[in-house]
Amino acid sequence: MPMIEVNGRQVTAREGGTLLDALRRAGIQVPTLCHYEGLPPTGSCRLCVVEVEGAPNLVPSCSFPVSEGMRVQTHSPRAVRARKTIVELLLSNHPDDCLYCAQHGNCRLQDLSEDLGVRQRRLPGSRTRLPRDISSPAIVRDPDKCILCGRCIRACAEVQTVAAIDFTGRGSGTRVDTAFGEGLNISSCINCGQCVMVCPTGALTERSHLDQVESALQDPDLVPVVQVAPAISVSLAELFGEKPGRDVEGALNALLRRLGFARVFDTSFSADLTVMEEASELVARLQGAGPLPLMTSCSPGWIKFVETFYPDLIPNLSTCKSPQQMLGAIIKSRFAGIQGIDPARIYSVSIMPCTAKKFEAGRSEMLRGGLVDVDAVLTTRELAELVRRRGLKLGDQAPEPADMPFGRRSGAGKIFGASGGVTEAAIRTAHFLVTGRELEDLTVEPVRGPEGIKRARVQVGELELGVAVVSGLGNARRLLDEIREGRRDIHFVEVMTCPGGCINGGGQPIGTRPGAITARMRALYRIDKGETVRTAHANPAVRSLYADFLGEPLSGLSHELLHTHYEARTPLR
Ligand code: FES
Repeated sequence: MPMIEVNGRQVTAREGGTLLDALRRAGIQVPTLCHYEGLPPTGSCRLCVVEVEGAPNLVPSCSFPVSEGMRVQTHSPRAVRARKTIVELLLSNHPDDCLYCAQHGNCRLQDLSEDLGVRQRRLPGSRTRLPRDISSPAIVRDPDKCILCGRCIRACAEVQTVAAIDFTGRGSGTRVDTAFGEGLNISSCINCGQCVMVCPTGALTERSHLDQVESALQDPDLVPVVQVAPAISVSLAELFGEKPGRDVEGALNALLRRLGFARVFDTSFSADLTVMEEASELVARLQGAGPLPLMTSCSPGWIKFVETFYPDLIPNLSTCKSPQQMLGAIIKSRFAGIQGIDPARIYSVSIMPCTAKKFEAGRSEMLRGGLVDVDAVLTTRELAELVRRRGLKLGDQAPEPADMPFGRRSGAGKIFGASGGVTEAAIRTAHFLVTGRELEDLTVEPVRGPEGIKRARVQVGELELGVAVVSGLGNARRLLDEIREGRRDIHFVEVMTCPGGCINGGGQPIGTRPGAITARMRALYRIDKGETVRTAHANPAVRSLYADFLGEPLSGLSHELLHTHYEARTPLR
């Protein structure tokens, strides 16, 4: 463990580590922009420069290796002046519309200007004026606000292996763009929003549905109905200053009613429905009714990824719609029927941790009789904005239950929000369907946790079921390549587009504290553990829906409402 001296203080570094790593471990803050935790440093923005005794120039701490006895000044006048100049140069080509920017108050460039005491536009650079790209149903790009840190490119290419965007041009003409400068909608973008999560400015934001939801809430001819995804209740509170992983389900139900929704339903209910359909599909395929491994279909970014990059594996995808779309379809069929409401008058909104859900809701396959299953999708961030627009406060709400019957869920439905949750829920039900008995221990430990690839073998009756659980599409690509090359010992594959699952989706709070994702994950498992009903097949609301309406899993009506199909795409479609 090398010892180094930082600002006159002895600091223990890690052998082979970078200077930035040593500084952070010692609690010394140096600003960064291009640095991307977990990926190799590029050292391109130079914002993290520090002074190292004996080095002729300032060095970027994010890529500079530590060595025994090194003496470092992190905030010498020279280092601070260099950082300030970098920020001034970035601002010289930045629009002055902070008040109207979607990232106002949550912008890294704003924070850096503040921290470095930039109080005027000292360097009047020539301003680029490029059109916004509003072609995507999920993500808006504003190239004028891009500061070329490259983090979005790395999220897209290195984490997700999609590479829908890259640097183009040279020198002052450098841009982040799609292939041939086409709209994001016809690129290979899978709409996951991980680029939005790492963008330090307002250059990448979700496509907002807020205005249309507000109009629908004011329209007396419409019946606004909302569903809330499992991961929302354990992440929303962070946007109101509370600690990660606090479950605010009851207060959230109350808030949604105050906002004007006539019914508040829980997407965890339709996650249970997904388990019933998907576990039945797995059992059927194990008996020869289709190709194995069966691959989950709840994550729409993953679906577009397979359609684009692995179309030969489309037959392996489950035909189940995602829980969002299943509940949307049930609301406009069963709920409308029970209530005697014309389905065309129902305005169905979902609150999702995911930007790709906006794309999914607009897929042509989701149209039935000219009606979409879901009319608008709000991310966690948009919901917080809507709450603030109305002058409401999360902390003021007394907890209320969701509406019945589609507000009734099991613990299995709730854990869908974490990577591994779908598999655990499906194993619980598949075991019951095959053996007629419950698993002795409902916790399937090997599929829990933050790892990007988890594998397990579980005894289900006579069969030792091989499962693989993947989150992040770079990890998915590795597994799919193994399957393409002939790997045959896996029967069930769960893929979540975003690392860690929906708790880290592209619609979740930006700039989360370290440990937030783990805290959200733990919260979901805590909720499951405390539930009296922990399996989808024991959810009384699910059982009644089958008894009174759908018949049985994989029935004709189930197929009509709850299942879908996919199509191969070229990357430019
Ligand atoms: Fe070190 Fe950008 S953060 S060079």
